[in-house]
Amino acid sequence: MAGRIPENILEDILGRLDLVELISGYIPLKKSGRNFKANCPFHHEKTASFMVSPDRQIYHCFGCGESGNAFKFLMRHERMDFPEAVELLAKKAGVNLPKQDSPEVSRAASLSSQLYKVNELAVSFYENNLYAESAAATREYLSKRGISPKTAKEFHLGFAASGWDHLINFLRLKNISLALMEKAGLILPKEGGGYYDRFRNRIIFPVFDIRLRPIGFGARVLDKSLPKYLNSPETPVYTKGRNLFGLNLSKDCIRDADSAIIVEGYLDFIIPYQEGIKNIVASQGTALTLEQIRLLKRYTNKAVMVYDGDTAGQIATLRSLDMLIEEGMNVKIVPLPKGLDPDALVRLKGAASFKEMIDQAAGLFDYKLEVLKSRHDMKEAHGKSRIASEMLLTINKFDNAILRAEYSKRLSEEINIPENCILEELNKLKPNTLPQEKLSSSIAGSTPLINPAEKMLIKFMLEEKELIEKIMGELEPADFQDTRTAKVVSIMLDLFSRGKSIAPSLLLNYFSEDDASQLLCESIFMPELLEEEREKALNDCIRRIKVERLKSRRERLHVQIKSAQSSGDEKRLSGLIREFHELIKKGD
Ligand code: UTP
Ligand code: MN
Repeated sequence: MAGRIPENILEDILGRLDLVELISGYIPLKKSGRNFKANCPFHHEKTASFMVSPDRQIYHCFGCGESGNAFKFLMRHERMDFPEAVELLAKKAGVNLPKQDSPEVSRAASLSSQLYKVNELAVSFYENNLYAESAAATREYLSKRGISPKTAKEFHLGFAASGWDHLINFLRLKNISLALMEKAGLILPKEGGGYYDRFRNRIIFPVFDIRLRPIGFGARVLDKSLPKYLNSPETPVYTKGRNLFGLNLSKDCIRDADSAIIVEGYLDFIIPYQEGIKNIVASQGTALTLEQIRLLKRYTNKAVMVYDGDTAGQIATLRSLDMLIEEGMNVKIVPLPKGLDPDALVRLKGAASFKEMIDQAAGLFDYKLEVLKSRHDMKEAHGKSRIASEMLLTINKFDNAILRAEYSKRLSEEINIPENCILEELNKLKPNTLPQEKLSSSIAGSTPLINPAEKMLIKFMLEEKELIEKIMGELEPADFQDTRTAKVVSIMLDLFSRGKSIAPSLLLNYFSEDDASQLLCESIFMPELLEEEREKALNDCIRRIKVERLKSRRERLHVQIKSAQSSGDEKRLSGLIREFHELIKKGD
């Protein structure tokens, strides 16, 4: 990784920034001893196991193993690639990067940045089309739907004319390869060879990410034909379920309002937004995904869901609700009358009455209960028990004991069942461990266990440079049995012998594989030793590794001896046996 941009520049950037400050711009950090702690932004958890070290300028999650320095944090959290993360942090730190045309950086023009470029061209192509004479009917349609010309501009709405190759021809003139257009999901291969435009005779809704880059497109028909919307396929920069439409425009308002209105469709975003309801996002389809929730959580932990009043909308709402609660979001719901969506509602009744509905949104308890009551017969014992067990599943998602007690009490009142029965059923449901949590901890646990002595020695070497010489006087990198520890040690030694810094945050730039960086960070966050314990611990670790080394040499010799015996190679055999005896003597 460090090959592209000179090491000293990376060092300079990292040296001028504070990781704690950087990360707390994205998630709230709490002081915990010498370090800072948070709920991990990379996996679901209820107890904080994500640690940030201000001294070492690294982070590590003990739950899922995610770890790294400032560059890595941005790469993971903001989905940047390495050159992008370097560029952003260089700017923050006031460090000049080598000129664009130097070979180091020009190679950084990754596939993603090429795709943004192509998408940008397509956005402007479609947008221009909308103002052509031939698109009068399309502009008329937009105006009929209540979209003002100003809004159309703000959203960069566009038009794909009918015809098979308008976009292809335009992009060709801009020297874009067909392969790249296809990777961007803008064109499709024809059966007999050649390509054609994906979006034809449709209104174009470009989708931007929170960094304002165009990542994909939604395209709506002007008539009643199906499918109503076509979307970009999954590309290296676009996955529908990972993005929230409009968040690029609304994120600051959401943060300011400390609440987000979640709607489904493009128009359900655009119309309320145009009418002054700015703290809004659209999930672009029905059920909210975990990734969308986590994206939103960067700005607020309060959400009001306003989904369509049909059954699909109800089911989607219920499914999203549980996920939102699990993610610790405070959720309310506005159930819409059948056949109405936020777009229609705002146009029919005005933004003020939409706002009022938002302010009076029901808590999730009431909403879910209402939905269940409409589905099951409360008068029947079975109906009641169905309602209770569905409600209990949701109540059980709360971590907070007070909320659990409060909702249990209300459930008992609502369905007229003694509270102790409800609590008894609730307790049967515990433990409230979530599948994701189990999954991620098993991922962390599945990396083969590393001898703690090896990790401890790495920690020693990083803390006291003088110890590197002492340790390496007794051991070699190859003596570390685990290939990852061996790799960390040999890179550390190499840098040290060249007089370079071995600060952990810099060292991390040398590992592209996650395993090695995880191991490095884990070592650093190992419990601190008391001053008087250090010497003994150090010697213990060295001795333990020597014992391991001896053991594995013995095992190897054992195998060799066996093979020499079976092949009857007397000369080799006696040599090996002599070696074996010497080894045993050493071990004593
Ligand atoms: P809806 O079917 O509720 O349509 O889909 P809508 O948003 O009210 O459409 P308008 O108002 O007639 O334009 C909600 C959202 O689901 C996605 C789109 O993001 C849409 O905005 N969707 C819907 C698709 O991706 N494809 C489809 O065929 C339909
Ligand atoms: Mn609609």
